[in-house]
Amino acid sequence: DGSDGLDIGKLLATTGKVTLDTGFVNTASCRSEITYIDGDAGILRYRGYPIEQLAEGSTFLEVSYLLIYGELPTATQLEEFTGRVQRHTMLHEDLKRFFDGFPRNAHPMPQLSSAVSALSTFYQDSLDPFDNEQVEISTVRLLAKLPTIAAYSYKKNIGQPFLYPDNSQSLVENFLRMTFGLPAEPYEADPLMVKALDQLFILHADHEQNCSTSTVRLVGSAQANLFASVSAGIHALSGPLHGGANSAVLEMLTTIRDSDETVESFMEKVKKKTPGVRLMGFGHRVYKNYDPRAAIIKKTADEMFEKAAGNELLDIAKELETIALADDYFVSRKLYPNVDFYTGLIYQAMGFPTEMFTVLFAIGRLPGWIAQWREMIADPSTKIGRPRQVYTGAAERDYVAMDAR
Ligand code: ACO
Repeated sequence: DGSDGLDIGKLLATTGKVTLDTGFVNTASCRSEITYIDGDAGILRYRGYPIEQLAEGSTFLEVSYLLIYGELPTATQLEEFTGRVQRHTMLHEDLKRFFDGFPRNAHPMPQLSSAVSALSTFYQDSLDPFDNEQVEISTVRLLAKLPTIAAYSYKKNIGQPFLYPDNSQSLVENFLRMTFGLPAEPYEADPLMVKALDQLFILHADHEQNCSTSTVRLVGSAQANLFASVSAGIHALSGPLHGGANSAVLEMLTTIRDSDETVESFMEKVKKKTPGVRLMGFGHRVYKNYDPRAAIIKKTADEMFEKAAGNELLDIAKELETIALADDYFVSRKLYPNVDFYTGLIYQAMGFPTEMFTVLFAIGRLPGWIAQWREMIADPSTKIGRPRQVYTGAAERDYVAMDAR
């Protein structure tokens, strides 16, 4: 049943043969106790807890604790953990100056990965992956500082001054204040927005061995430190096929709204496989059913837009979904909305520009990256990741001197 996957790699190594699985469609790279997905049934669980229950009743920091330490915290454990994270939100003044070196208008995403990478230079005393105390402090520092770095990446991008974190506020409130606040104007985040963003972070917190998480594990398997491994994961997430799809959805919806195109004629183009036209936010490598995260996000979008008296783009999105769910092209291919179909709309309504969408994804995914890196480091059976290849180049040939070419 796949629960005890056969280690075919080890088996074949003795025969000199290799398996070729481009894109790792059916090759497990590790055993993991963190996240369970049943793509056919549309099930997602963190440490055994259904995503629907966590999204409804938990908070992002509690889910972070659950993913990283394996169990839900007691009230005291959560208070202690929250306090530690809140105390480490400041960036070293020299790290703040690091942003000065980027050009104006620098995209926030590479600023984020560069600054996370630079954390290794500020905390050289806590980079040993096998020292529990050092791993603990790096975990807390990363969770605490990523929202600050994210807000500063945005401020740099739009040319506004940085705000210091306010450690009396929750992680999400503090992040929103540092992102949208100005030194002279007090900023108070809308509680509905705080709740919605906290929930979106929960929904993005882990998704087993996706591209960025596999990157974090692969880099970490060489015993690279946590900051270096997570920085590599952020780079992987920046790709449009991974973290960038939510902005592509928004572009698609805006194009439909601003052109003469009807929703029906757009869908016809998708079905005819017109080059460059896909129903963005639909389909998933693992889910062959409704992505459970999309169902929760759709409800959140409805709540947010009910208050804002509707939204034209949301209406187009819903129309696309209704057509797709009743159309044989999508049904036969098991194409359903994924997590990205509605998130961009919510982020836009919150006031984030599209450049920040993937940064928000990174803040949400961070506890998953940390949990997966720690699980790998703690597992004595971990080996350095080193895929094989099927060589298709030239056979042996003799070097030709320059004057004879
Ligand atoms: N619109 C129209 N047709 C689609 C779509 C789509 N969004 N997705 C897949 N298909 C079709 C393909 O054309 C193919 O049809 P065929 O069998 O007639 O050739 C079939 O469905 C299978 O598609 P693949 O591309 O083989 O599926 P794969 O698992 O490789 O790709 C992916 C998954 C990349 C997510 C794809 O569905 C896609 O491009 N979706 C749009 C982009 C997107 O929303 N990405 C976000 C993913 S979630 C995340 O990263 C957080």
